[in-house]
Amino acid sequence: MSENLIIKGNSKKELYENLLPQIKALVECETDEIANMANISACLKDTFNFWWVGFYRVIDNELVLGPFQGPLACTRIRKGKGVCGSAWQNAETVIVPDVDEFPGHIACSSLSKSEIVVPLLNNGEVTAVLDIDSEKVSNFDETDKEFLEKLAALIS
Ligand code: SME
Repeated sequence: MSENLIIKGNSKKELYENLLPQIKALVECETDEIANMANISACLKDTFNFWWVGFYRVIDNELVLGPFQGPLACTRIRKGKGVCGSAWQNAETVIVPDVDEFPGHIACSSLSKSEIVVPLLNNGEVTAVLDIDSEKVSNFDETDKEFLEKLAALIS
């Protein structure tokens, strides 16, 4: 396994295209979910310099904060609450261009302006969500959704 992340690409799509095989190689060598989530958070933060990148895991019918990169965050989120709880409830990716427009958004940081949350699915059940925040409005689009869903499938 390579210990160095190679960040290469002139567009978001190219960056993801170069990142995904590296993450695939990383997680193929490791069975521990926490270790993989920790490295994926670091790789996404390094590649895109997102404000906050991390995972919440479903434990005892709550989302519980897992490995992340960025400022401290709320530790528990109930089903249906906030962007993360909505992605969990509906088992689908949620893109929020402007967090101030999302009813019930849970503000861990006032600097976060847009967000994407991607569920990790195991036999149709959500086992965790990948949450990414940006300090720029409208920072996430269908390209992020496409590649982050592929990334989520690597560790689901
Ligand atoms: N904004 C999220 C809460 C988690 S933090 O962004 C890290 C939400 O509304 O679910």
